[in-house]
Amino acid sequence: MQGPHKVTERLTPTSAHMLRATDLLKSGSLVAFPTETVYGLGADARNGRAVAEIYAAKGRPSFNPLIVHVANSDAAQIYGIWNQTAQRLADTFWPGPLSMVLPLRADAGLSELVTAGLNSVALRVPAGKVAQELLQRFEGPVAAPSANPSGRISPTTAAHVLAGLDGKISAVLDGGACSVGLESTIIGLTGAPTLLRAGGVAREDIEHVLGISLKSAQSGEITAPGQIASHYAPKARVRLNASRWELGEKTLGFGPMECDLNLSETGDLVEAAASLFGCLHKLDEMAGTQIAVAPIPKSGLGAAINDRLNRAAAPR
Ligand code: TXA
Ligand code: MG
Repeated sequence: MQGPHKVTERLTPTSAHMLRATDLLKSGSLVAFPTETVYGLGADARNGRAVAEIYAAKGRPSFNPLIVHVANSDAAQIYGIWNQTAQRLADTFWPGPLSMVLPLRADAGLSELVTAGLNSVALRVPAGKVAQELLQRFEGPVAAPSANPSGRISPTTAAHVLAGLDGKISAVLDGGACSVGLESTIIGLTGAPTLLRAGGVAREDIEHVLGISLKSAQSGEITAPGQIASHYAPKARVRLNASRWELGEKTLGFGPMECDLNLSETGDLVEAAASLFGCLHKLDEMAGTQIAVAPIPKSGLGAAINDRLNRAAAPR
């Protein structure tokens, strides 16, 4: 677990330091790095524990889906189901400040925490020179929200990153100030092309390239909790904070106890976060009428885990 007393390495884009940053990512550690938009807090998007550490370091109270960064559009097609609109946008705007939400490929191999259990994935090919070099060296998908504590302003310099996350992440790669300074535009392509978040590429420019007008997301739709909750709420009723199991229930434990599935036998919140969505899927497949969940502490990552469980338990 990323404790509060970690020494955050200051790296610069020299060959030796780029290698160090790549090795840290490969070992499941968090590395903040510059993109042309803002600094991202990067982790291997296939590694559930590493992705869980992102939420822990940022102190995010809920699991929002994260953008997956890749080196080029060939790599993007490993994770998202491609279509002609995606191709046209990629040809015009990648590498650059545009993210596309595509249907998730069944064989994508990403941590379920990256997509917050959704069956779609946000993909981006950043243009920043340091980001490009890091992704090419890493040769894998990097999940990266902005590298700031939850609720704070997005960082556009390494100093901003350190002001918020020093001691909480393994390293920051200092590539100077970000040129765009504003997050990427997010376009939803799981249905009719929809503007999900305004950002570094203007809506008009996208509409011009596609020759159609984009639909607008209803306000708050991107993170609309209800939407995400109903998407992956189990079919069975969910009973939280269960101090004992009732007959016939499918049971989700935490810490040493007898249960059908356990979020973390050792009571480790990082492990619990990494396994949460997988466990919810499995419990759903077990086809009981009621699921009971043991109490989960509310501190640290426990806040986001409880948030997600509360949504799963909400009456529908
Ligand atoms: O410029 C950027 O995009 C920066 C830099 C670091 O690349 N990254 C960034 O990532 O802003 P993040 O994780 O903070 O932005 C995630 C946004 C959220 O608003 C989230 O709801 C949306 O992308 N998003 C991610 N996956 C989604 C999905 N499958 N469906 C709908 N929205 C999604
Ligand atoms: Mg942000």
